[in-house]
Amino acid sequence: MPELNTITKTVIVTSALPYANGQIHLGHIASTYLPADIYTRYIRLSGLTVYHVCASDDFGTPILIRSEKEKKTPSDYVSYWNRRDLKDFQSLAINFDLFSRTSSPENKSLVQSIFNKLQSNGYIYEKEVIQPFCPVDKKFLPDRFVVGTCPNCGAEGQYSDLCENCGKVPEEILDPKCWICGSVPIKRSSNHYFFQLSKFSDKLRDWLIKNSNLQEDIKKYVLNWINNGLVDWDITRDIEWGIPIPTSDANGKVFYGWFDNHICYISSLLILAEEHKKDGKQLWNESAIFHFIGKDIVYHHYLFLPAIRLGIDQEYKLPDYLPTRGHLLLKNKKLSKSRNWYISIEDFTQRFETDYLRFYLASITPYSQDDVNFDWDTFREKINNELIANVGNFINRTLTLIQNNFASSVPKISKLESYDNEAIDRIHTIGTEVGTKIESNHLNRALMDILAFSSFLNSYFQHKKPWSSSSVDTTLYISVNAVRTLAIVLAPFIPNSSEKIWYQLKLGDSVHKQEWSSSGVLRIAPGHVIGKIVPLFKKIDKETIEKLQIEMTGK
Ligand code: 2FM
Ligand code: ZN
Repeated sequence: MPELNTITKTVIVTSALPYANGQIHLGHIASTYLPADIYTRYIRLSGLTVYHVCASDDFGTPILIRSEKEKKTPSDYVSYWNRRDLKDFQSLAINFDLFSRTSSPENKSLVQSIFNKLQSNGYIYEKEVIQPFCPVDKKFLPDRFVVGTCPNCGAEGQYSDLCENCGKVPEEILDPKCWICGSVPIKRSSNHYFFQLSKFSDKLRDWLIKNSNLQEDIKKYVLNWINNGLVDWDITRDIEWGIPIPTSDANGKVFYGWFDNHICYISSLLILAEEHKKDGKQLWNESAIFHFIGKDIVYHHYLFLPAIRLGIDQEYKLPDYLPTRGHLLLKNKKLSKSRNWYISIEDFTQRFETDYLRFYLASITPYSQDDVNFDWDTFREKINNELIANVGNFINRTLTLIQNNFASSVPKISKLESYDNEAIDRIHTIGTEVGTKIESNHLNRALMDILAFSSFLNSYFQHKKPWSSSSVDTTLYISVNAVRTLAIVLAPFIPNSSEKIWYQLKLGDSVHKQEWSSSGVLRIAPGHVIGKIVPLFKKIDKETIEKLQIEMTGK
């Protein structure tokens, strides 16, 4: 089954680093963190070693300005968000082996050494650049601090460092305005360092074409960007919050956040490796590397990140997989923290089970660039009809009959009919089917397979009528084993509920410590006494959803 097993023993999963300047929202969860967590949980159950690392993205002008506004030091400000983000992730059962920060001393030193190596390899040059400077705020205005019209697609109101409409990094934004005060910036000269991205066109093209693990549609448009000519990257910022450029004439200049943030994937792994007493570089280079991202940062991860690794002679290998997903829309508009159009994690977890959100988002998010729409009514329907009426119902009927008619003891198997054999066959194969889909990152399809399995089990149960028939013992024996199978295959998706199911089966230990392949084995023996039955799920009523929509005005 797991193809990964044959190529590697260790997997390194990273999730895009959240900016340390505001709450994580459901858009980030759907495109990046939930898929990465599901993947990691599955890999772990499959018996491979997996490390999931992430960190807060601490640098950048917006963070500096916000910390000033809140009268906090930038470092206190980002520490707050680092803890807060981690708490939000934990509330959704999204686990990391390490949640570090780009401002860690380890990242600082790795970033500086990578810069030095790029420089000695001849990929860095200096150039005087004219920078926008706000005469009112008396500040250089890098990146987000200038807004204007994208020169590529004509979209207005775009940041100068990324057009959210076409996904490109504009060479020079048109009709520029200071983001803080709206005045027209003047120009000032400053000495900057440039990374020669343009020198890597051939190698990047080659890497993209050869790497069959990357999504074809993305490859296509990234190749197009390369063919249209890559622009060198200015990696200097004239601000005081960032990793200092380690040259004597840098005069307090710092690196652009996008130079240092992805390097933090590596520095975080190195910290973790040290904790595990392993050689970090060797671990990185021997593992399968997955960077989970949302589609708005394709440019950075498909070009900039691999080019930097190529520029240091692949001291740290390039990614094997870059699972990239589209945006989550709310009322068909992209969620955005900076534009205050989002549902926060807290909004959600205060009202509903964590697993409801995980189930819903995993079931609507495809492995593609397509955007998906968050819809409260569909949310309710999916939870009530798929999770509760399908999965919950089968589990509850099975366990209740064993409790009530067999004093909680699993009955003996007797004569098998063809429907029983079919059910046993389905138990044998479901783990492989689901596992193959998870491995190819089609998590929504994997979940659909589980629902189809559960539907089948409901029909089986219904057909066999164990509450009135003589073959009740066989049916319940097979069904309780199917419940165990469900607990394991659902564990990556709805970890808390799976653990509750496991607890009710009274199998000891934790569902998260089982082997994925054991989902295909009928391990519960006749005579096993199941545990106390507790309600697994609670239906969501229409009024709750209607009230919620009114409360979250406009959302
Ligand atoms: O776009 C963002 O939210 C960035 N903070 C993502 C950084 S990912 C990385 F570090 F490469
Ligand atoms: Zn201004």
